[in-house]
Amino acid sequence: MNAFAYRAGTLHADAVPLDRIADAVGTPAYCYSATALVAANSGFAGAVSHLPATVCYAVKANGNLAVIRTFARLGAGADVVSEGELRRALAAGVPADRIVLSGVGKTAPEMRLAIDSGIREINVESLPELEALSRIATEAGARPKVALRINPDVDAETHHHIATGRAADKFGIAVADARAAYAAAAKLPGLDVVGVAMHIGSQLTGLKPYRAAFARLAELVGTLRADGHDIRSLDLGGGLGIRYRDETPPAVEDYAAVVRETLGGLGCDLLFEPGRYLVGNAGVLLTRVLYVKDSGDHRFVIVDAAMNDLIRPSLYGAWHDIIPVAEADANAPARAVDVVGPVCETGDTFARARAMRPVEPGHLLAICSAGAYGAAMSSGYNARPLVPEVLVRGDRFDIVRPRESHADMIARDRMPEWLDPAAQESADDRRADDRRAESERS
Ligand code: LLP
Repeated sequence: MNAFAYRAGTLHADAVPLDRIADAVGTPAYCYSATALVAANSGFAGAVSHLPATVCYAVKANGNLAVIRTFARLGAGADVVSEGELRRALAAGVPADRIVLSGVGKTAPEMRLAIDSGIREINVESLPELEALSRIATEAGARPKVALRINPDVDAETHHHIATGRAADKFGIAVADARAAYAAAAKLPGLDVVGVAMHIGSQLTGLKPYRAAFARLAELVGTLRADGHDIRSLDLGGGLGIRYRDETPPAVEDYAAVVRETLGGLGCDLLFEPGRYLVGNAGVLLTRVLYVKDSGDHRFVIVDAAMNDLIRPSLYGAWHDIIPVAEADANAPARAVDVVGPVCETGDTFARARAMRPVEPGHLLAICSAGAYGAAMSSGYNARPLVPEVLVRGDRFDIVRPRESHADMIARDRMPEWLDPAAQESADDRRADDRRAESERS
């Protein structure tokens, strides 16, 4: 089911026409479909329901509280990687005992908050971090559950920036060092070492890397158990890909079958951390065409969204379908255009030489598959305020994050006294008063 579809010539999210949302909140704006979120969650949760599984939504993909709560209401937990994400998950109502903290460099306050909140598990990525956690836990008089993230040295066959399980990637503890790391962990006070964690990358479109990594994991569990460690929890990370263009990612049922085949016999609790799979195709970025510019042979469609709002095309060369909100005349000839934003960088390009039917200034476009790592990775570059987020459910829509105002954006900064004429004047007055008082005393 696609929650974004044309009805009577207009692109809708569920039952709401997207031009209505653009009129109400302006553009650019993110628009998510609750129906699509729920459907993706049911798909994933259903596929792993025959396993002893907990699904912890990877908050980094889309940290909007309403999105997190939508999943929490359906029973999902959360995978978080910072104090901010942990606070977001708790604020959205995710029970602490379904939250797992991951991340390659956790700070002491992050670990302390995780311990004090009583979260389900902390995934540790190095020996120094393990020692730090042990100290913090001992100080807190607690014994948090811990897994060590192991780097299996498997190539996820995805974009270089988002492959995380190769030996040279910064993540986890090398599989060859795992036994020594568990032996060290067992000697440290304040830690309940319960499991192993693994995440080999994101936007995986094949099962082979998973099969290889999970096979290595199963073997490791055997070794660690033989060494006397009570391994009872396996965190399998996220990474299941979605279709942006013409990829054919594995069905979630097939992914679950690989998990069952490789790890099902170990009697461990399983944690899954899907992010993109749950939100990627549940959101679009709405943008309006500002100008159409012909320059030599090139036609540029200049839109009001930019790389600061959605950075994936600039950062990863990622493809996002771009479709008109008012359905195009199927007989109109398509031609190659570059769809670009207003930011002062050539990299601010959503699509290059993309075949599109004619578009004109004022037309609304939907940049598709923008629910994951869209708003979450946005910034205020070029002093562009963060754009609003809207959640559609059936025939209603709600603003789940209002557009940042220019006033709020400017009010965040502070002027040092020496650059602020008013502050400078009152400081001068104060000093003059002090001098007067001083001379009166003497
Ligand atoms: N668990 C861990 C430990 C992770 O590092 C990640 C993603 C996930 C789970 C969720 O992965 P997912 O199911 O969403 O693939 N910004 C990039 C993606 C970065 C992914 C980082 N880690 C993008 O826009 O493609």
